[in-house]
Amino acid sequence: MLDFKKEIAKEIADVINLDANELEKYIEIPPNRDLGDYAFPCFRLAKQLKESPLIIANNIKENIKTDKNIVEKIDIIGGYLNIFVNKQTLTKVVLQDIAKNKEKYGSSNIGEEKNVVIDYSAPNIAKPFHIGHLRTTVIGGALYKIYKFLGYNSIGINYLGDWGLQFGKVMAGISLWKDEYDFTTNELESILKIYIRFNQEEKEKPELTEMARSYFKKLEDGDEQALKTWEHIREISLDNYKKTYQLLNSKFDSYNGEAYYNDKMEPIINELKEKELLKESQGAQVVNLDAYNMPPCIVITSAGTTVYATRDLASLKDRINKYNFDKAIYVVGNEQSLHFKQIFTVLELMGYENYASKCEHVPFGLIVDKEGEKIGSRKGNSIFLEDILNESIDKVKDIINQKNPELENKEEIARKVGVGAIIFNDLSNSRIKDEIFDWDMILNFQGETRTIYTIYICKNKKLT
Ligand code: ARG
Repeated sequence: MLDFKKEIAKEIADVINLDANELEKYIEIPPNRDLGDYAFPCFRLAKQLKESPLIIANNIKENIKTDKNIVEKIDIIGGYLNIFVNKQTLTKVVLQDIAKNKEKYGSSNIGEEKNVVIDYSAPNIAKPFHIGHLRTTVIGGALYKIYKFLGYNSIGINYLGDWGLQFGKVMAGISLWKDEYDFTTNELESILKIYIRFNQEEKEKPELTEMARSYFKKLEDGDEQALKTWEHIREISLDNYKKTYQLLNSKFDSYNGEAYYNDKMEPIINELKEKELLKESQGAQVVNLDAYNMPPCIVITSAGTTVYATRDLASLKDRINKYNFDKAIYVVGNEQSLHFKQIFTVLELMGYENYASKCEHVPFGLIVDKEGEKIGSRKGNSIFLEDILNESIDKVKDIINQKNPELENKEEIARKVGVGAIIFNDLSNSRIKDEIFDWDMILNFQGETRTIYTIYICKNKKLT
């Protein structure tokens, strides 16, 4: 493929009689594409050419050849030449490249032999897997595929929230209200309804919280019956989530979640102790982060229990040992930004700065409804992400029946367009700002959804 950078360097070299290979190294990409496609810093040649940057810039601008249709326009700003490439040539080159490389267009091997660990989705078992976990699943899934496309070995980790007080709540709730729910046909839904009810009633009745704690303690102490229930809930939840992952085409290489690290925290705690990083503070064991303007990272609470941060430190160390990663990405909401800053800083303080610098939190905003209210916080909202995806598929089916009733493969196209529209809505919104979830916008057939629809219909026509 035509290399614009090389060609521009050659043309500049022709004007000022310097070596094109040397000049190519100076060419930059402007921070803002409105400024141009490439930028050339003339001030870097001032000494060598014994001219002012402005004179050099004017000389190049006036004498550069445009007959090869590489350069279209040049602006001079602050010692820089801002260069715009010829759009017709660019279009031609890109289309030729796509035609030649087909599905491989844009791929590369820059990641060869490098491991990228991507922590995404990570729903909390025994709590509803609702739309709140859509963004991490979609954004993480896109990163997983992009890194693969660039030749990296992508490792998708679904760090399930499969340990914690929520299990105590569910177990206590089941013991209180089991008879009021249908456990034969709708077990998981009943469990989730009990969890939601427990959280509501607990606000008025603090004794419920105590009850949940003692159930969770049973689990932590390894009570056989409690562990059996825990395992069962984890299993039926995961079976259910897998239906959503299938619809979204999400891939994971590991489902090791918080519970997996439950009995693997001692080494990291010992290491923190040996490195004299753990300090006592109000009965808790913490790593002081004053020097970084952060609150301390609590590793062991005053009650002697470990926390989310302890497990994340243990799992991060495990990822270093297992994958020797080139990058570790955590796709988790904005609200956990401080948590990850603390974890990465503790890792650095432990002496693993070369790994700490390869860790990155990829945050995102909430999903809200048209009124700006967090979705899932009001009653009546779906507790399963799968239901929302199926709703989208059904809505697309209705549209197809109105607009294109004769279409072949209606089911398949409705599924692809319905799920595609939700994914597109997510990825086309700002990652950081809150995302508005509005069916009219998602399934607006005047906009991008129609593009997705058309692509699938065309693909389908080709196949038949
Ligand atoms: N389960 C957590 C939540 O839903 C997210 C876990 C993210 N990953 C991690 N390694 N902490 O809030």
